[in-house]
Amino acid sequence: MLIKSDVQQIKQRYGIIGNSPALNSAIDVALQVAPTDLSVLVVGESGVGKEIFPQIIHQNSPRKHGQYIAVNCGAIPDGTIDSELFGHEKGSFTGALSDRKGYFEVADGGTVFLDEVGELPIPTQARLLRVLETGEFIKVGSSKVLKTNVRIVAATNVNLTQAVAAGKFREDLYYRLSTVPILVPPLRERSNDIVSLFRKFAADCAEKYRMPPIHLDDAARQLLISYRWPGNVRELKNITERISIIEESRDITAEILRSYLPDINVEKFPVLLKNESEHKVFNNEREILYQVLFDMKNDVNELKKLVHEIMSGNVQMSVDDDTCSKPHPHPHPHAHNIDSSTTIQEVEPVEEETLSLEEVEKDMIRKALEKHNGRRKNAAADLKISERTLYRKIKEYNLE
Ligand SMILES: Nc1ncnc2c1ncn2[C@@H]1O[C@H](COP(=O)(O)OP(=O)(O)OP(=O)(O)O)[C@@H](O)[C@H]1O
Ligand SMILES: [Mg+2]
Repeated sequence: MLIKSDVQQIKQRYGIIGNSPALNSAIDVALQVAPTDLSVLVVGESGVGKEIFPQIIHQNSPRKHGQYIAVNCGAIPDGTIDSELFGHEKGSFTGALSDRKGYFEVADGGTVFLDEVGELPIPTQARLLRVLETGEFIKVGSSKVLKTNVRIVAATNVNLTQAVAAGKFREDLYYRLSTVPILVPPLRERSNDIVSLFRKFAADCAEKYRMPPIHLDDAARQLLISYRWPGNVRELKNITERISIIEESRDITAEILRSYLPDINVEKFPVLLKNESEHKVFNNEREILYQVLFDMKNDVNELKKLVHEIMSGNVQMSVDDDTCSKPHPHPHPHAHNIDSSTTIQEVEPVEEETLSLEEVEKDMIRKALEKHNGRRKNAAADLKISERTLYRKIKEYNLE
C-alpha cells in the first residue's frame, strides 16, 4: 500500500482537486498498477475525470519514455477504425495510397489509451483481444502477423456488463480489459469535494479573464452541494465558468445559482416571483430582460385590443400624428374610413411576437448604442450593465 503522500503528490502534479476516500483510492490503485503491464479499465459516468488516469499510469510506468496514444473509439468511423488502430497496406482499400502504421505499431513500447472502448465494433474487438493476449496483429489488407508490446488502458462511461449482456461487447474482451478496474465515483458521491472544485474553477476563470473570483453565500453553497450534478465535474466546471463570466456581481446567491442549474430551474420568469420586494433584487440581466419582454408583450396585447376596438367601430380616434390624421392623398387599396377625419390602414395580421431573448437583447444593445452615438460607456450605463459586459456582448453578437 502506497503512503498517502504519494497520492497527494500526484493530485498536486496533475491538478486533481478533492480528497474524498473514493477518489484517493482510485488514484492509489492507478499508482500501484502503473509499474506493471496489466490492462486497466477506468470506469465512471461522463465528466467524472477519467481522462487523467491513463496519463498517470503511463507517466508513472517504465514505459514513460515510450509513446502515449489516446484514441477516442467513439469518434472514429467504423470503416476506418481497424486501419487507424492496426494500420493498412497500400492498395488494401480505395484511398489506401501507401502503407500506414497503426497506433498499435507506433506505440510499441508505450501505452495506448482506448477511450469510450464500448463503442468499438465487434470485428475490431476480436483484433484487440488478439493483441491483448498474444501481442500479435495483422494490418488491414495484409496476411503478415506483426508483434507489438503495448500497454492498454481503456475507459468507458457505459455499463460494459450491460453491453456484454446485450451482445454488443465481447465477454472475453471485457474480462481481459478489466484485469484492474479503476472506479471514478460520480460527483454526488463526493459532496465534500464540490466546494473545493468550485473554488478552483472560479479561481482559474478569474485568472484567465483577469477579474475577481466569484464567491458563494451560505445558501448558494448548500444548493451547490445538494444538486445532483448529472454531468459531474465537467458540468460543475462549465457552470462555474458561465456564472463567472455572465454575472456582474461577484457574490453569488442561491437565487442566481439556481437559474444556472437546469434540473431544478423552476423560476424561469419574474412573474413567478412572490412579492414586490423580490422584484427589487433584480441584479441579473436576464431577469431584467424577461421583465422587458413581459412588458412588451403586455403592450402588444393592449395594442391588439385597441386595434380590434377601432376596427369594430367602438372607439373614436383622436390622432395627432400627421401621417394618420389627414386623409391620405393616395389611399392604400386596403384603407378603411373609420370616420370622416380618420383613415387607418388595414392592420397586418399580428405575428407571433418573438420570445427570443437573444434577439431582444441584441435589439436593446443596438438601440442604446444608437441613442448614445456609439458611446459605449453611456450605452452601458443606460442598459445598466458594465462596460465589460457590453463589450463582450457587442463582440458576441457582432454588433460592431
Ligand atoms: N478532480 C478533479 N479536479 C480538477 N478537475 C477535474 C477533476 N475531475 C475532472 N476534472 C475536469 O473535469 C472535466 C471533465 O473530466 P474528463 O474529461 O476527464 O471526464 P471523463 O470522465 O473523461 O468524461 P467522458 O466520459 O464524458 O469522457 C475536465 O476538464 C477535467 O479536467
Ligand atoms: Mg473522457
